[in-house]
Amino acid sequence: MDHFNYQDGQLFAEQTAVAELAAQYGTPLYIYSRATIERHFQAFEAAAGDHPHLVCYAVKANSNIAVLNVLARLGAGFDIVSAGELARVVEAGGDPSKVVFSGVAKTADEMAYALELGIHCFNVESSQELDRLNQVAGEMGKIAPVSIRVNPDVDAKTHPYISTGLKENKFGIAIAEAPATYAKAASLPNLNVVGVDCHIGSQLTDIAPFIDALDRLLALIDNLAEQGIKIRHLDVGGGLGVTYDDETPPHPEAYASALRERLADRPELLLVFEPGRAIMANAGILVTEVEYLKPGEEKNFAIVDAAMNDLIRPSLYSAWQAIVPVKPRTDVPEAIYDIVGPICETGDFLGKDRSLAIDQGDLLVVRSAGAYGFTMSSNYNSRPRAAELMVDGSDAHLIRARETRESLWQGEAVLP
Ligand code: LLP
Repeated sequence: MDHFNYQDGQLFAEQTAVAELAAQYGTPLYIYSRATIERHFQAFEAAAGDHPHLVCYAVKANSNIAVLNVLARLGAGFDIVSAGELARVVEAGGDPSKVVFSGVAKTADEMAYALELGIHCFNVESSQELDRLNQVAGEMGKIAPVSIRVNPDVDAKTHPYISTGLKENKFGIAIAEAPATYAKAASLPNLNVVGVDCHIGSQLTDIAPFIDALDRLLALIDNLAEQGIKIRHLDVGGGLGVTYDDETPPHPEAYASALRERLADRPELLLVFEPGRAIMANAGILVTEVEYLKPGEEKNFAIVDAAMNDLIRPSLYSAWQAIVPVKPRTDVPEAIYDIVGPICETGDFLGKDRSLAIDQGDLLVVRSAGAYGFTMSSNYNSRPRAAELMVDGSDAHLIRARETRESLWQGEAVLP
C-alpha cells in the first residue's frame, strides 16, 4: 500500500497535489512519500516480531540521504555495496555498527574505511577476499567481523539479470565449498567469523525459494557447529518482490513468519534482512510531461520529457511499470500509445501499448519508481538528472536539486 492516491479527480502524493509539485519543481521529477517508506520499513520490523533481528535497508535501491535519514531515524541498519554508499549512510546519520557490506569486489581502501567506522559485518564473496580483508585488518590492528555469502543454488524464478543464487552466477561461494571456506576464514588471525548470508535474487513473488535457501543455510550452520565454528547471525538478503502490475508477492508478514517458524528453536540466531525494493519501489513515482503526441500508422507515440536515463528499468529488463495520468480526462479519445523519451535509442521507452486519454502538455506518472529509479539514472544524451522531492503530509521537501547544464561537465577540462 502506498500514499499516491486520486482525490477530486487528480493524483496526490500524501496530502499534496502532484500537479502543483510539478508546476513548482518542473519535470521529470521523482517524488517519494515519507509515510510509505516508514510504513514499509515498519512492516518488516513488525513481521520480525520478537525474534532478534536487524533490518538492513539495501542502499542501492534508493540512496538519497533524505531516504536514508528517514530510515535511520527508525533504527534501520543498512546493506551497502561500496564505500560511497557507506559514506552516504554516515552522512545521513545512519549507525555504522548496523551496516553489512555486500559486493563481489571490495577494494582494500573500502575495507579500511569500513573497518575504521566499525561496521557490523563484511559479507565476503570469495576466498581471495578473505585474504585481502585479513591483511587490511591486520595492518590496522583490527579484527574484521565476517560472514560468507553462500550461493545456495536455488532458482529464484525471476528475471535472469536479477537472479543471483544459481551456480552460474558470479555471486557468493558455492554451498558445497562453504565448509572449507569457513575453515579457512576461522584460521585467519584477523577475522572473526560471525555470520552466514545469501541473496538469491530480486523481485521474488513466491516464498518457496527463500525457504529452500534458508533450509540449506541452516544445514550449513549445523555442519559448521560440528566443525566448532559458531554462527551468530543469519542474513537472508533482500529480494522480496512488489506489485508492479498483477504480481501478488507475499506480504513481509507472511515472508518473515515463514522464516521465523524455521528459526523458532534458534532464538540465539540474529536474523538479518536486506530489503531494498520492498521498502522503496512503491514509495516513489516519476512525474513526466507529454511533449508531443505523434500518431503513426503502426504505433502512436506519446513523447515525454523523462527517458531511459531517468528510469532505465523498462529498457534494461523489459520491466513493466504502471503509467497513469495525473489528471484523468474524458474530453479526448483514448488511444494506445508507446510512452517514449527524447533519447536517440529505439530502446528508450517507459511503457508500451498503454491505453491513455491524453493530450500534449498533460502530466503522466510512472508508478513504483522509488527503487532502482534515480539510483540507476545517468546523464546520457547530456540530460541533467531529475530533481527529487520527499512529501511528508502536506509538506514537500526538495531532497535533490535538478542538475544544471553547467553541472554536466563538472570535473571535465579542455586541453591547454
Ligand atoms: N542484498 C544484496 C546483496 C543485493 O544484491 C540486493 C540487490 C539486495 C540486497 C536488495 O534486493 P531487493 O530487496 O531490492 O530485491 N536493478 C534491478 C534490481 C537489482 C538488485 C540487485 N541486488 C531492478 O531494477 O530490478
